[in-house]
Amino acid sequence: MCFIQVLLGDMGTGKTSLVLRFVKGQFYDFQESTIGAAFFSQVLSINEATVKFDIWDTAGQERYHSLAPMYYRGAAAAVVVYDISSVDTFVRAKKWVQELQRQGNPNLVMVLVANKIDLETKREVDVEEGARYAQDNGMFFIETSAKTAHNVNELFYEIGDFMLQI
Ligand code: GTP
Repeated sequence: MCFIQVLLGDMGTGKTSLVLRFVKGQFYDFQESTIGAAFFSQVLSINEATVKFDIWDTAGQERYHSLAPMYYRGAAAAVVVYDISSVDTFVRAKKWVQELQRQGNPNLVMVLVANKIDLETKREVDVEEGARYAQDNGMFFIETSAKTAHNVNELFYEIGDFMLQI
C-alpha cells in the first residue's frame, strides 16, 4: 500500500526536521528553510503489511502559500505542524486546518502536531489547548520533538496504522 502525505505549517516549525528524523534518523540545529517543497519516500512494515509513504514537505514561508494546494489536493493525510514555543505558529496551524476543511479532499486524514516539546521552558501553547482544538476538528493530536526524536516514529506509525484500517 502506498499513500501520499503532506506536511503543512508555518516556517520554522520543524516540518523538514520531522521528516528527516523519520526517514534518515538525522537532525540539524541549523536546518535550512525549504524552498517550494521537498519530496521524501519511506517504506515501513506495520503489522506485517508494507506501507510506502510518499511525503511532500512544503515550504512554510508565506510566499509559497499559493503552491500548497498542488500538494494537499492529492494527499491522503495532512500533517499540520506548529511549534509549542510560538503561539503565532498555532494561529497559523488553525488557518491551515480551515483551508484544508474548505479546499482539501473530503476524506483527508488530518493530524495536528505540536513540535519542539524539548523547549518546554519556552512553551506558549498548552497541551490541552492543542488537544482540544484537534478534537473539535476531528484530528489526531501528538506532541513531538524532532530534536530528541520523541514521538516522531510514533507519529508516522500511527498514521500508517490508521490508513491501513480505512
Ligand atoms: P520551513 O522549511 O521554512 O517551512 O521550516 P520547517 O518547518 O521545515 O522547519 P525546519 O525543519 O527547517 O526547522 C526550523 C528550525 O527549528 C531549525 O533550526 C531546526 O533545527 C529547529 N527545530 C526543528 N525541530 C525542532 C525541535 O523539535 N526542537 C528544537 N529545539 N528545534 C527544532
